[in-house]
Amino acid sequence: MQTSALPVLETPVALAGEQNAPGITVVLTVELVVAFVAAVVFGAAVVALAVIATLGVGAVVAGAGVTEGTVTGAVVAGVVDVASRDCRWQSIQSFEADRKEPVRMDTPRFRFIDLFAGLGGFHVALKQLGGECAFAAEWDPTLNALYKTNFAIDAWSDVNDLKTPEMIAQRIPDHEVLTAGFPCQPFSKAGEQLGFEHTLQGQLFFKVFEILKEKKPRRFILENVPNILRHNGGATLATILKRLADLGYSVAIHRFSPHEFGIPQIRERAYFVGSLDGLGKFEWPVEHQERTDITSVLRKGAVPERAVPIRTLRAIDMWDDFLRRSPASVKLPSFPIWAMEFRATYPYEDATPAALWDESRAHGLRSYLGSFGRVLKDLTIEDQFEWIPSHARRDGDYQFPEWKKTFIRQNREFYYANRAWIEPWLLKWEPWELPSSFQKFEWNAQGGERRIDNYVLQVRASGIRVKRTATAPSLIAMTQTQVPILGASLDGVRRYMTPSECAELQSLGDVVLPDNDLHAYKALGNAVNARVVRAIAEPLLRDLTRRKSDTRAA
Ligand SMILES: C[S@@+](CC[C@H](N)C(=O)[O-])C[C@H]1O[C@@H](n2cnc3c(N)ncnc32)[C@H](O)[C@@H]1O
Repeated sequence: MQTSALPVLETPVALAGEQNAPGITVVLTVELVVAFVAAVVFGAAVVALAVIATLGVGAVVAGAGVTEGTVTGAVVAGVVDVASRDCRWQSIQSFEADRKEPVRMDTPRFRFIDLFAGLGGFHVALKQLGGECAFAAEWDPTLNALYKTNFAIDAWSDVNDLKTPEMIAQRIPDHEVLTAGFPCQPFSKAGEQLGFEHTLQGQLFFKVFEILKEKKPRRFILENVPNILRHNGGATLATILKRLADLGYSVAIHRFSPHEFGIPQIRERAYFVGSLDGLGKFEWPVEHQERTDITSVLRKGAVPERAVPIRTLRAIDMWDDFLRRSPASVKLPSFPIWAMEFRATYPYEDATPAALWDESRAHGLRSYLGSFGRVLKDLTIEDQFEWIPSHARRDGDYQFPEWKKTFIRQNREFYYANRAWIEPWLLKWEPWELPSSFQKFEWNAQGGERRIDNYVLQVRASGIRVKRTATAPSLIAMTQTQVPILGASLDGVRRYMTPSECAELQSLGDVVLPDNDLHAYKALGNAVNARVVRAIAEPLLRDLTRRKSDTRAA
């Protein structure tokens, strides 16, 4: 699935599109995975994928049969549907039917460990299902201390300090369920995507693997960014699945977002569930269809630690005025509005500013207009640079990608068709005085009332994004400026959402958060949504629970 057309925006629309994309379902065998990984090593990932897809299609039935299967040797097969939201990886080895587990008589239904524990999203969920936390690890000192405050557990610090199998065996108590939201930056679209090569963080999956190998819990739940399923052309996923299958785990993968569970937040994550007892009876939870609304998590009259800066408020006023001036008959753009393209004429289709500068220095742009129509004629190359939008002046950009050409063209056409009301708006607000991110605007409330204060806003590098109140923007490891801003109609004044409200978006209940609000927002952006985990864990752990109650009944 190609996402290259949307490098700037990861709008809910784009996500929904991804979710609905038709997928190729392939069945992988160990041989194919090995072929794939080998091909990646030799730089032929695409070909390898094609080979796998070709060989695998048609074998889906065999894969499904495996789900009901019994031990037939060391064959491993799986169903991997990378484009759709559901992947299964089944290890036939794992069907050692009627594995005899010692049944424990103590009170908790199962014991779990919480690796990369953060604020404890997994803990909150599994405790609700009757689990007892046997071990947690979190290296951030504040979050480590908070784990004690919230859950009365002295969490281990750095998992890398669990250096040897002996140490793992000794330090980590036996448990039935392992949970881990291993750090996602190495695999995230937002980062450099160094993956396993990421010096420290990328290797942490292997630490999870070592712990699974040593302790053999009957179930696991892992969480990461959805991009991990596509990272490095699928090689990262293939490595993970191969390692887990080698340990005898059956694995299934599904992407979920909290808004599918009644929580007003769109934040898709990939969940991996694993079982040593097969996944034949496991079913993913069914998503809700109910409408959500951000007001369900708001604490009326809450006062966030920081006020929205005056300059941000001015930019919001400016775009509110833009909305109000736009005639009702004019459909507002569904593409991002780049105000700096209004009046601009610099070349972008066949030539680019960078190409002209390299070719003929400042002379090449003499006859053009830059951002907001700035005459470039008598400017030095350095001054011309200041008046070319940042999206169009990167060194070496001799050809813009199609998506960028389209956005520039659409913005210029929109301006020319609407300049009668846009011109007075430009003269009143002088947006060129504001930072570039305030000069861009994303209207994600098509058809809604053109009053900015009725919506939720977020300041992003790609512009001020306006969303309907059905869902809050995705919580990410945010800086203060990216914290969602509530329009004044929602709670009387424009204000940031508070950390407690963001904790509600992650279904964390009343966990104590870091005192420092910036630290709190960051941790909340890293956390896993506890309600989603609970919905997944309930069917996954049902038989663990049942065994216990069966025993009690007997
Ligand atoms: C993606 S977050 C997981 C958050 C958690 N699931 C939650 O609900 O809050 C990853 C966490 O791993 C922690 N971490 C990163 N490297 C670590 C390491 N080597 N040892 C222990 N914790 C680590 C980070 O501080 C961060 O809190």
